[in-house]
Parts: sequence; C-alpha cells; structure tokens
Amino acid sequence: MKNVSELAIHYLNHYNCHINEGYTKLLFEACEINPPPHGKAWYGNLYRQHARKSEWFANSLIANAYEEGNGARQVWQFSRCVENQDFARLIRSHSIDESRHSKMFTTLFSMLFPMKLEEEVQAQLKAFSPMYSKENHPPTVPVSADDVMDELLVMDELIQINLLEIRALILQLLLRPVLQAYAKPEDREKVSRMSDQFIFDETKHIEYSAYCIGEYIKWGDCDWLRQTMIDRQATVNQMFLEDIDHQDSIGTTILRTQDAKTL
Ligand SMILES: [Fe+2]
Ligand SMILES: [Fe+2]
Repeated sequence: MKNVSELAIHYLNHYNCHINEGYTKLLFEACEINPPPHGKAWYGNLYRQHARKSEWFANSLIANAYEEGNGARQVWQFSRCVENQDFARLIRSHSIDESRHSKMFTTLFSMLFPMKLEEEVQAQLKAFSPMYSKENHPPTVPVSADDVMDELLVMDELIQINLLEIRALILQLLLRPVLQAYAKPEDREKVSRMSDQFIFDETKHIEYSAYCIGEYIKWGDCDWLRQTMIDRQATVNQMFLEDIDHQDSIGTTILRTQDAKTL
C-alpha cells in the first residue's frame, strides 16, 4: 500500500462501500500534497515500541475509552446543528458507534488486564461512555435556531471527520496484533472479533463522511471543497504531530487536539 489514501480506499472496497469518484480524487490529491505522517513506517514502529510496555498499553486502552466517549458526545452535539437531515441521521449513527467503542475499550481493558478495581473506579470507567443507542440518546433537534450551522461549516467538519476517521482506522490496524498478543489464548477469538468490529465501524465512518462530501460535489463549490480538503489534511497532520509529543496520545484513536476544533 503506497499511502494512507490508498489504504482507506482499499478498506472501503473491501467492505463493498459505495465511494464517489470525485471524493477519491480529492482525497488522493490532499494526501499527495500533505502526506499524512500517521501513514509512515516510523509511526507504526513508535506505536509498537510503546505497546510492548504493558503499563503503557493498559493506560492507552483507558485513554481510548475516555476519548471515544468524549468523541461520541461531541459528534452528537454536532448532529444537532446540521440542517440536512440525511447527513444528521448518519452523524447520529456515528455518535452511537463511538459510544459503543468506548465500552468496548473498557471491556478490552478488563479482559486483558484483569484486576480488582474499587467500585468507584469501575463506575468512573463505565461513565466514560455516554451509553447512546438508537433508543437512548440526547434530543435530535437543535438547541435553538441560532445553533444551526452554516453549510460550509458543516462540510468543513465533515471533511475533518473523514480525515480523522482514516487516522482512526490506521490506529485500529496497529492495535489489532497488539490486542491479540496480550490476549490469553481463550480470549483471543473474542478480542479478534472486537477488532474486526472496530475496523468495520471506522471504515463505515469514512464511508458516510465521504458520501456527504460526494453529495456536496453535486451542488456545492468544488474549488472551495478541493482547497479545504488539502488544508484540512494539513491540519490533521499537524494535530497528529502535536499529539504524539504526549506519550499517552501515541495510541489513542481520537486526536486530543480535536478539542480545539469547533465540534
Ligand atoms: Fe471509534
Ligand atoms: Fe470512528
């Protein structure tokens, strides 16, 4: 696989996702102009080097449980500000997936590192996930009419989501052999199934945001879209490099500097 964009398209094809050609072109160009550092061999080596230390790896599972839960809340909040109900429905389902990912990381932590935790700590870990589901979630309507975001801002967020989900997929691919190595033989199958689910979900997040970008190509300003894809790939690369300066961020699926965004 030559680079990150090819890897993303490979997984989208693998799961028979329908991908707009215009989107593929934009992604290839953005990654060529601003090559993502998270696709480089040095990052994989750095991740594996840290993951060998069990304490670091246990902490990274907890950090992921926290970040995915936070991400789920932010994504739901975003969905409420999106006027296009086709897009909003897809964004809500993304939020529910991330909420489930938070729980999955907590489950993996307890499975791979079984220990007696105080009830208070257990409750704290559980609370990382907002526990969203199709039946249980915050309101879908905007808080007020003023909260409805401008279409360009919505597209900007969706582009960032798309590029960040590609990076989340890469992390899941790095995580998979490490999870399998830490798992007890009797847990290995379950751990692999959870990893399959993570990889599938992250690919679906790339797919839906790519679909929204593809829809915008039909009616929107394509020059703006092209430039924003290029600029946002640079932003994501920068966020990634800032994050890996913090040891505990090397293994997180969601970039922390994301908090600085408008989501
Ligand atoms: Fe996730
Ligand atoms: Fe995701």
